[in-house]
Amino acid sequence: MKCQLYIDNELFEYEVEGEFAYGNDEVLIKQDKNAIDHVDWSDVGHTTLDILNTTQFNALKDNLVVILNRIMAKYDIPDIDILEDYHKVANTQERHLQVINETRSLTRKDFDVDLNAVCELISQHLGKAVAIENPKLDTEVITLRISRPNSFDINPLHRDAYLDYYKDTINLWIPIAGCNKKSSLPIIPKSHLWNEADVLRTAAKGATLKGLKYHVPGIVKGPDNELHAIRPNPKYGESIIFSPYLIHGSAVNLNEDITRMALELRPCLK
Ligand SMILES: [Fe+2]
Repeated sequence: MKCQLYIDNELFEYEVEGEFAYGNDEVLIKQDKNAIDHVDWSDVGHTTLDILNTTQFNALKDNLVVILNRIMAKYDIPDIDILEDYHKVANTQERHLQVINETRSLTRKDFDVDLNAVCELISQHLGKAVAIENPKLDTEVITLRISRPNSFDINPLHRDAYLDYYKDTINLWIPIAGCNKKSSLPIIPKSHLWNEADVLRTAAKGATLKGLKYHVPGIVKGPDNELHAIRPNPKYGESIIFSPYLIHGSAVNLNEDITRMALELRPCLK
């Protein structure tokens, strides 16, 4: 089925394969734990927050160069000096799939940077304690999301909270490299409050995009059949912080020759 998505008023169309159905007459966030019910952005579902100073950000970025080179070495992919050049070495689909198979599920052990400090800050902002550990998972999942230029390395629109183990989380999208108005994460403001009866989507593990199958159900239509996203485009050192019920994804990278990378953290309510 064709997904028609407006990002900052520009139309993007792509095919999502799967079996689609509208959900039940229910607003999921009202039935589950809601990480954002005390904040002043609870009605829009997202905000932007300063989480790293320049020293911390640079350390994290340097750390990711090391992590990525370590992964790429396993597949005989040459090293890179800067993350923005990734597409120049991961220059085939096979190489890219080998890499993202690993970068989609990093853990705290991969990092030298103290991610607990980030959780402290988020706990203070939400007025609720969160931690990296997710009791529903054997180990925490930290994703380095990589989108090569001119490649359509995107996932379908989705709510993370469709997956039970992400229901009690808060979502952080942290720009790392190549992030700007042409590449940062699209989100649909207020969509965390949409009724499932207005959302056309696949079942879990039911969405395929450009030959890749996704765990999370893929969304192709919303109320009035229209999907309008914005790119908040946070600065380096900032993060988009949003409800796991907020619809997001399909971050097509429209930059000419720069790979875009972002880190996804999902601290869990204690
Ligand atoms: Fe997501």
